[in-house]
Amino acid sequence: MTNWKPDSWRNFPKVQMPQYPDAATLAEAESRLSNYPPLVFAGEARRLKEQLANVAAGNGFLLQGGDCAESFAEFHPNNIRDTFRVMLQMAVVMTFAASCPVVKVGRMAGQFAKPRSSDTEISGGIEMPSYRGDIINSIRFEGDARQPNPERMVQAYSQAAATLNLLRAFAQGGYANLMSVHRWNLAFVEDSPASEKYEELAEQIGKALEFMQACGIDPDSVTQLQGTDFYTSHEALLLGYEQALTRVDSTSGDWYDTSAHLLWIGDRTRQLDGAHVEFMRGISNPIACKVGPTTKADELLKLIDALNPANEAGRLTLITRFGADGVEKHLPNLLRTVKREGKNIIWSCDPMHGNTVKASTGFKTRPFERVLREVRNVFAAHRAEGSYAGGIHLELTGQNVTECTGGAIDITDETLGSRYHTHCDPRLNASQSIELAFEVAEALKDERRAIANAQASAG
Ligand code: TRP
Ligand code: MN
Repeated sequence: MTNWKPDSWRNFPKVQMPQYPDAATLAEAESRLSNYPPLVFAGEARRLKEQLANVAAGNGFLLQGGDCAESFAEFHPNNIRDTFRVMLQMAVVMTFAASCPVVKVGRMAGQFAKPRSSDTEISGGIEMPSYRGDIINSIRFEGDARQPNPERMVQAYSQAAATLNLLRAFAQGGYANLMSVHRWNLAFVEDSPASEKYEELAEQIGKALEFMQACGIDPDSVTQLQGTDFYTSHEALLLGYEQALTRVDSTSGDWYDTSAHLLWIGDRTRQLDGAHVEFMRGISNPIACKVGPTTKADELLKLIDALNPANEAGRLTLITRFGADGVEKHLPNLLRTVKREGKNIIWSCDPMHGNTVKASTGFKTRPFERVLREVRNVFAAHRAEGSYAGGIHLELTGQNVTECTGGAIDITDETLGSRYHTHCDPRLNASQSIELAFEVAEALKDERRAIANAQASAG
């Protein structure tokens, strides 16, 4: 990696970064963090990259999800448990339907920083800095609460460490046992107003598990069924924090950002000559980049070369977010270009960020129907272009919130207010998430069958 250092990003144009009032306290907090233990081990990030290489080859699927923004106020073991649980419920359905491994990656344990469209916010005639996430400032619009405060990075680190600790315990300590996850899904199907639609698939999974059990394959005999790999990810936005957690891996000599297994950059920070791309190109973690309606094909190729110069499989995931109505216009050309140039990447679909609307009652929401439609349109575009839809990226929570309209338990503009808790963007609730998983599972099954058929007739 030529001319790269963990701090080389500081010499590049920076966007979406806060102006801290005092450089000395900032440097002091960053230096303290740089001596704290890594949150993840480089070997884990490498393992995730291997599993993602498998996805890139069309032999797996990436499920990434969690809060739009984690917050200090909502930090509670039940929230972590419920999000983890809903992700596993989704993963079982998708693993079964597609007969392929699902790589589970939470937007958790570090998803604290948010890009904003405006540097300041005006309310009641008063102008203050915009809220940029709990790792930077407070959402409260009063006093100096909006002033960026470096101590918040240390608090975010500590919350991330505790979250990750609980996730590891859940993933390997028995909670993620395949049999219990299946039982949760049965309970979901029983309670869902759309139950007939999902009953059949759930029943088939039950049958498969019973058959395996009859053959002597169950969690007691096969440890893989007792637990699962669960990885963490967040947007690498606050580069001072990321740099402080970037360390040399002694076993390989490579640099890893140990704040999470996977890091991504957003649609607003992916400038080729900018600080974020500079930072990302030097870390050896698997990384991702958001791709929106403004992304030009030639620009995307340059970005791919900057972020994945060796064309390494599993290194780079492109997360597309066009909105249900924008997929057809924007995606096919990008798929064609990337395929023509032989770029080894994973295509993942974010059906959330292009589908945000204002409800008649004033709430920022996302109609479930549009989210679903973007997923379907993305699968169709991949089918038409002969490329592989390898993942899905969601903003979701295991809590029973009312932030996105629609779903089997219909949430309307009027009922949005009853449990609208998000610190940032509207999230799918637990039942909307599992419903979506059933739909994705069907699409994935068709996709994989079509690819297998095409290969059979070609061979
Ligand atoms: N270990 C396997 C996997 O991760 C099977 C498994 C165990 C599993 N518990 C799970 C799959 C929970 C999904 C959800 O795929
Ligand atoms: Mn968001």
